[in-house]
Amino acid sequence: MRIAVCGGVYSNPYALASFCEDARARGAQRLYCLGDLGGYGAEPEPVWPLLTDNDVVCVAGNYDVAIAAGGADCGCGYRDPRDQQYAQIMYDHTLAHTSRRFAAWMGELPTERRETIHGCEVHFVHGSPLANNDFWWESLPDEAHAARVASSGADVILATHSGLPWIRRFGQTLVVNVGVIGRPANDGTPRVCYALLDIDHGRAAPRLVSLAYDWRAQARSMREAGLPEAFVSTNETGWWTTCLEILPTEERSRGRYHVYDSSVPELLTATGHPGPWPDPDPHLPVRPLVGSPLFPSRVWVEKSVGRAPALLAGAAAAGIAEVRELDDAHGADPDTMALPELTLGEKGWRWHYGDGAAPLDPTEGGQPVGREDVAGAVRAVVRSLLAQLQTSGTLTPPRYCVG
Ligand SMILES: [Fe+2]
Repeated sequence: MRIAVCGGVYSNPYALASFCEDARARGAQRLYCLGDLGGYGAEPEPVWPLLTDNDVVCVAGNYDVAIAAGGADCGCGYRDPRDQQYAQIMYDHTLAHTSRRFAAWMGELPTERRETIHGCEVHFVHGSPLANNDFWWESLPDEAHAARVASSGADVILATHSGLPWIRRFGQTLVVNVGVIGRPANDGTPRVCYALLDIDHGRAAPRLVSLAYDWRAQARSMREAGLPEAFVSTNETGWWTTCLEILPTEERSRGRYHVYDSSVPELLTATGHPGPWPDPDPHLPVRPLVGSPLFPSRVWVEKSVGRAPALLAGAAAAGIAEVRELDDAHGADPDTMALPELTLGEKGWRWHYGDGAAPLDPTEGGQPVGREDVAGAVRAVVRSLLAQLQTSGTLTPPRYCVG
């Protein structure tokens, strides 16, 4: 038995139509959706006939519960006012453009579903077995995963809500966050994600499918509806531009944008750096750490690592504009080191501050950097910076909603 499972349609009928077609073409015998039918996009109503015409079995997400009740907000579980501000824009649009008949249909959906498929007990949830709006991130500590797995007891747990896909096994339990099809996974591509599972004799084999769809049509529809450019940009580029504060440092470091524009004055004050911190795109409410006074727009690599094409491509993907090879005899040239400089090498990373002020504790460490993984090294350094900013109280650490 092959099943296809999506989540987070987010008023994106173009992606939902592609999901149904793609899943059937890949031999899926049953189609499921884990909820959040509205939000984000402009057109919630056309999602309804696509679900019913394609026999997609649905559970209700926090969005669907809220829309059915005509609630004041989406109940997404955001804690930062800037995250909530954008969530409210999406919710108000969805509520105003969803018929009460569709809302009533959503109100009839269960918020979870258990089904035995070929000897395998499958638990379909929206957030996690703990709560409908629980953000089940891959980077949660082991004990947090264990608590969620234990509260289900099923062989397979399928979730969405956080928007970022992952697959893990915890003992005998398989957990798949199927991602969402309404917006990309903060990975720099407009493609979206769903999961296929082959279930046979009590065993399930999962895989994540990267789904191409007509994202231009979705972007056009959002612009015509007057939705914020920050939302449209995400569908076009694949990078998240809102709802950053809820992301754990691990997931946040993987994106292009790391802080809200409104955090910049506090960040400069807290780190004692005068700035400036240029804003690469004034149309977006966010900006990257890379290229800021806290993080160089170029890196140095040790000679032993070298400027291989794969390394240069990885650096570009991480937003690094320039890679220079370190002269082992002389090190980085102090005259060019007004900004903090970063050296990546086989033993990890090192900071060089030159005459500039050290903006943060110059922690060294990380994994050895080879020819293929400079993007991973940059993410690790960004993660370390974000963690320091959170520890110092300059950025708010995310708090996860479990009801
Ligand atoms: Fe959700």
